[in-house]
Amino acid sequence: MASTLKRVSIVGSGNWGSTIAKIVGTNVLSNPKFDQKVKMYVYEEIVDGRKLTEIINTQHENIKYLPGHKLPENVVAVPDVVEVAHDADIIIFVLPHQFMANTCKPLMGKLKSDAFGVSLCKGFYIADDGKIDLISNMVRNLLKIECLVVMGANIAGEVAAGQFCEATIGSRNREQGLLLKEVLQTDFFRIVVRHDVEVVEACGALKNIVALGAGFCDGLNYGDNTKAAVIRLGLMEVMKFCDIFYKSSEHRTFFESCGVADLVTTCYGGRNRRVAEAFARALGEKTIDELEKELLNGQKVQGPEAAREVNIMLKAHNYENDFPLLTSIYKICVREIPVTQLIDNLRNHPEHL
Ligand SMILES: NC(=O)c1ccc[n+]([C@@H]2O[C@H](COP(=O)([O-])OP(=O)(O)OC[C@H]3O[C@@H](n4cnc5c(N)ncnc54)[C@H](O)[C@@H]3O)[C@@H](O)[C@H]2O)c1
Repeated sequence: MASTLKRVSIVGSGNWGSTIAKIVGTNVLSNPKFDQKVKMYVYEEIVDGRKLTEIINTQHENIKYLPGHKLPENVVAVPDVVEVAHDADIIIFVLPHQFMANTCKPLMGKLKSDAFGVSLCKGFYIADDGKIDLISNMVRNLLKIECLVVMGANIAGEVAAGQFCEATIGSRNREQGLLLKEVLQTDFFRIVVRHDVEVVEACGALKNIVALGAGFCDGLNYGDNTKAAVIRLGLMEVMKFCDIFYKSSEHRTFFESCGVADLVTTCYGGRNRRVAEAFARALGEKTIDELEKELLNGQKVQGPEAAREVNIMLKAHNYENDFPLLTSIYKICVREIPVTQLIDNLRNHPEHL
């Protein structure tokens, strides 16, 4: 007889992926609804002369992406994404967003028909016709399954250390949202379920761009007032962007963890801010790609890619001038304008909302 236990699988094993594996692996052990084994897809690489999957399965630690934190032994690292996802009921996608489409393609037609996906990826998807879409829509269209999202003020190392924080699930289907909440919530990880999934997801993607602006301010030695102005204008542009492109947008959602909290934490603590600060200090001597390699040990910054994706969207709808912050940050990243021009471009920021 087929098991009625729900299987949860994780596709991705970076800094956040490994942290989520730690939470999910622990939660399924104490909840009789779930199968206790959690398969985690690992993009195979050699670390210290050994396969990363082998290290994780013997040492129960992702020594490259989440060193110093043990993973529960029921989390099993697997290098084959189809093997990880084919028999899962809930598939959590947690990859740098630029790798999502290629990682998902082998899963086409291979998943359980009543499975649902969950995207924790922050960024957009560029379709073959050049159009920009949400990652959750890409999953829905490509894999023919529903896709929820989880976003929030969640710097992975702090969550892995058990420090209190919150996250927001975006789910059109309340039942799936509440089931996912059981998979994720702990006494230090408080989860709220919202129905306007597009807004929850867009907030997560857009805040990384604003964080680059905050990092530029730090690198140019501007004070806290200037940085706060950049963050506030960033929030206004995020809200306007959602109002224009996602009709289900409800302003309450911007005040959940996926909105203002994630924006603040990323603008003070995240890796996008850090790389942007170094970029501004180098004053054009180094590219963002060079700094990412230099500073992040294989981790990815998502902001520059998201800035490019959003710019394609704004340009296509003739909105570049209505979003001076997002537009300027994109132009700085591709070195079309110098970083020192950021604030000049904000002086006549249009009224919003
Ligand atoms: N790290 C955080 O604090 C944090 C918090 C919340 C959300 N997120 C989001 O979670 C997502 C995953 O980020 P992360 O921090 O787990 O990753 P990461 O940047 O720490 O690690 C990069 C991952 O990408 C994998 N990878 C490299 N090349 C690949 C390829 N060609 N195909 C597939 N995988 C490849 C690596 O093996 C590694 O697992 C991102 O969208 C990020 O924005 C991260």
